[in-house]
Amino acid sequence: MNDQQKQLIFDQAKQWILEAGERIRTKMHEPFVIETKSTPDDLVTEIDQQTEQFFAKNIRETYPDHRVLGEEGFGDELEDLNGVVWIVDPIDGTMNFVHQKQNFAISVGIYKDGVGEIGFIYDVMGDVLFQAKRGEGAYKNDQKLAELSSDVLLEQSIVGLNAFWTTENPRVNKEGIQELVRKVRGTRSYGSAALEFAYVVEGNMDAYVTMRLAPWDVAAGIVLLNEVGGITTKADGSEVNMLKTNSIIASNRAIHSEIIDKHIELKK
Ligand code: IPD
Ligand code: CA
Ligand code: CA
Ligand code: CA
Repeated sequence: MNDQQKQLIFDQAKQWILEAGERIRTKMHEPFVIETKSTPDDLVTEIDQQTEQFFAKNIRETYPDHRVLGEEGFGDELEDLNGVVWIVDPIDGTMNFVHQKQNFAISVGIYKDGVGEIGFIYDVMGDVLFQAKRGEGAYKNDQKLAELSSDVLLEQSIVGLNAFWTTENPRVNKEGIQELVRKVRGTRSYGSAALEFAYVVEGNMDAYVTMRLAPWDVAAGIVLLNEVGGITTKADGSEVNMLKTNSIIASNRAIHSEIIDKHIELKK
């Protein structure tokens, strides 16, 4: 993908994302079907499905050699990340979408041979588009975002964290997470992994800590966070696998290893 091709794909993706956002804002005021998936709290609506179909159809018609990895099953079955792969979460924060009608995002990461080249996170109701191309910085709408400060202390940090991880759970020892909660200045939980990434990117939060996310939750956020000098790894410090679910520590570099070394004890 040369710079010119990348720019064309970027412009096309942006146009589809804004159009999809407009469709969501229109359709959400009419009745829509809500179903559950793996558990009673795992919601999906027909608008999630239609939005993913909109992306899959457009991508396939325009770029027949690109592949799609999406949450709702309209993409391709991937066993590798060769070539260009669009990693799409049509609505990240479906529970917020259903219950609050706000605080949800469209997340699109475009990867070439496993390397994140383009990232978009669109706060649909706020009409705010976070956007990045690898090596060219991250933007909030048209405003270039600053590099993250390197002299942040964990004691002065705001950390995105779901309270679930402070309770008994199968993935991480709750005691370490409870100590993290006590140590930091404050915690926040927004219910959209993509938006939580975006808040770390813009410096509103210093870290986002969670024990289980799918590739479409993080694909765009990782590209954006790299562009402001942040870092994303699994909770043991190893590299995120974009074909699997991962634990995620996405943060300012100044506090990343302290979170992992002092506060995360993964269960075997
Ligand atoms: C969910 C949201 C939520 C996170 C869940 C995700 P969805 O995505 O990002 O914040 O805690 O793990 O599954 O299902 O609303 O796209
Ligand atoms: Ca979901
Ligand atoms: Ca999601
Ligand atoms: Ca989703």
